[in-house]
Amino acid sequence: MQIISKGLTYTYNPKTEFKKTALNGVDLEINEGDFFGIIGQTGSGKSTFIQHLNGLIPVQNGTLTVGEYNLSSGVKKDKKALKTLRSKVGMVFQYPEYQLFAETVYDDVAFGIKNFFPTLSEEEVEASVENALTLVGLNYNEVKNKSPFELSGGQKRRVAIAGVLVTKPEVLILDEPVAGLDPNGKKQLLKILHDIHFKSVKTIIIVSHDMDEVCENCNKIAVFSEGKVVECNSPELLFSSAKKLEDLRLDLPITAKITEKLKEQGVEIETDYKIDDFIYAVKKRYLNI
Ligand SMILES: Nc1ncnc2c1ncn2[C@@H]1O[C@H](COP(=O)(O)OP(=O)(O)OP(=O)(O)O)[C@@H](O)[C@H]1O
Ligand SMILES: [Mg+2]
Repeated sequence: MQIISKGLTYTYNPKTEFKKTALNGVDLEINEGDFFGIIGQTGSGKSTFIQHLNGLIPVQNGTLTVGEYNLSSGVKKDKKALKTLRSKVGMVFQYPEYQLFAETVYDDVAFGIKNFFPTLSEEEVEASVENALTLVGLNYNEVKNKSPFELSGGQKRRVAIAGVLVTKPEVLILDEPVAGLDPNGKKQLLKILHDIHFKSVKTIIIVSHDMDEVCENCNKIAVFSEGKVVECNSPELLFSSAKKLEDLRLDLPITAKITEKLKEQGVEIETDYKIDDFIYAVKKRYLNI
């Protein structure tokens, strides 16, 4: 599913004294197959934008198409089609583990699918739950009867993600997926997202404040600022302009920071800023290998 947004605007509490414009003309294309990053300062409209993509926030002005679904303003929405869209575009909110509620891991993940497809047989539900828990790297038989509250923080988050994956979405959107996890938990979860991207979900969109994370994992990154997309590029092109990032008051990934320092010392290296490539470039420059 390709996502195309043109001139998308959104104001919270319009016509009141509390009105707040969150999106101010978002133009953006996200292609099927992307592992897409959305960055930008706090309050720049990232969360408001992603919630448009499965119809959670209705379009006020502008056009938005998600695959065959036209969510643009002025286009009549069919309730059934909106439900199907939500099963195809899965949304994982920040700290999703806070929304776990059922007595067992099984029931929690099963809720995700029964809600969308109430006529499925219990066998079909079970197969989907097993598949979703396996995708997030959990052992189905080990965890299915546990209370979600017996699990570690990282495991709880994976259960919450399984609850979205269970409908087999084509697009998976995650708001700050690794926030609050320890470095090992972060690494594990990102690896799982890459495995899922390869095996099951066609497009992954992550919102993140961490430049190292988006640089290492995304093939394309959009920068939001004051409700608009001000840059959309590959990490290689985006992070090669330190000045531009500074103007946007955004940090650089560590690899780009070191590359900048080297440049100041007159050493040029050519890299796409991903860790492996960066190490290769440094070795080539200093060790001639
Ligand atoms: N429910 C709401 N009611 C009123 N204003 C809101 C609401 N949600 C967000 N806003 C405002 O809309 C603007 C954009 O908010 P949004 O949450 O989309 O930003 P964000 O880029 O996701 O920020 P963060 O990085 O802090 O998560 C902000 O000024 C915010 O205060
Ligand atoms: Mg947000």
